[in-house]
Amino acid sequence: MSDSVTDIFSPEEVKRQIMALPDKWILRFDGLIAGYGKKQVLNGVSLEVASGEIVALIGHNGAGKSTLLKAVFGLIPIWHGQIFYDGAALASPKPRELLRSGIAYVPQGNRVFTDLTVQENLEMGGTTLPTKKAISEGMERVFALFPALKERLKQRAGTLSGGEKQMLALGNALILAPKLLLLDEPSLGLAPPMVSQAFGRIQQISRDSGMTVVIVEQKVREVLKIANRVYVLRTGQISFTGAADALNDEAKLREVYL
Ligand SMILES: Nc1ncnc2c1ncn2[C@@H]1O[C@H](COP(=O)(O)OP(=O)(O)OP(=O)(O)O)[C@@H](O)[C@H]1O
Ligand SMILES: [Mg+2]
Repeated sequence: MSDSVTDIFSPEEVKRQIMALPDKWILRFDGLIAGYGKKQVLNGVSLEVASGEIVALIGHNGAGKSTLLKAVFGLIPIWHGQIFYDGAALASPKPRELLRSGIAYVPQGNRVFTDLTVQENLEMGGTTLPTKKAISEGMERVFALFPALKERLKQRAGTLSGGEKQMLALGNALILAPKLLLLDEPSLGLAPPMVSQAFGRIQQISRDSGMTVVIVEQKVREVLKIANRVYVLRTGQISFTGAADALNDEAKLREVYL
């Protein structure tokens, strides 16, 4: 096993490591338990994300990946444990406050407002920005990344291709120049060449602006190319964490993921 890999199977050990380095992390989960109604989905998740890094969250269908992101964004209540962002606990976070504090979230499934035009979608995305000027500057940044959107400004989002909808969904988040971007399966519905292109853009933005990214993905090999570190979620618990490079080894990837 490579030295850079840390196999962590004990929640106590994860917690110990996290508590040892409290200042480094922009996002930190400490024993998070949450679910829906009576159904417990997250069974004590502890993880940490350092400022500026890209962290991949992988795991099989139903493992709780989307639920984890929803918990950060205040879309489901926290039953037990805590989430810390930028040094402070997110007690009962409200999405609007989170947007203002620099967290943006792109849910699973190309969610855009289909009846609105591309321009109207981006204006909605930028609604928490303080001024019209900030919105138009944000739009220019998005167009620099996704020029195809500029050509379709007046087009209704419902008529865009899957790839264009995904660009718009990303654009709606990026217009805010977030400090922390939460992405839930951004590759969904994208043709393979588009996947590596979209991931390349995400990596470029992170490098250029220092944006931290947590990315949930089923396209594991693709996401490992841009991620610094990876967490594997299995039935609501972290079953592996380590450097993304470590999983370039097919046998290791199979061992932790399959
Ligand atoms: N709104 C909901 N109400 C009740 N149960 C839900 C709800 N959303 C998800 N679940 C359940 O919670 C568990 C985890 O779901 P989640 O969507 O977090 O998985 P996931 O890892 O994102 O899976 P996928 O890769 O399929 O997107 C599943 O058993 C799922 O059926
Ligand atoms: Mg999901």
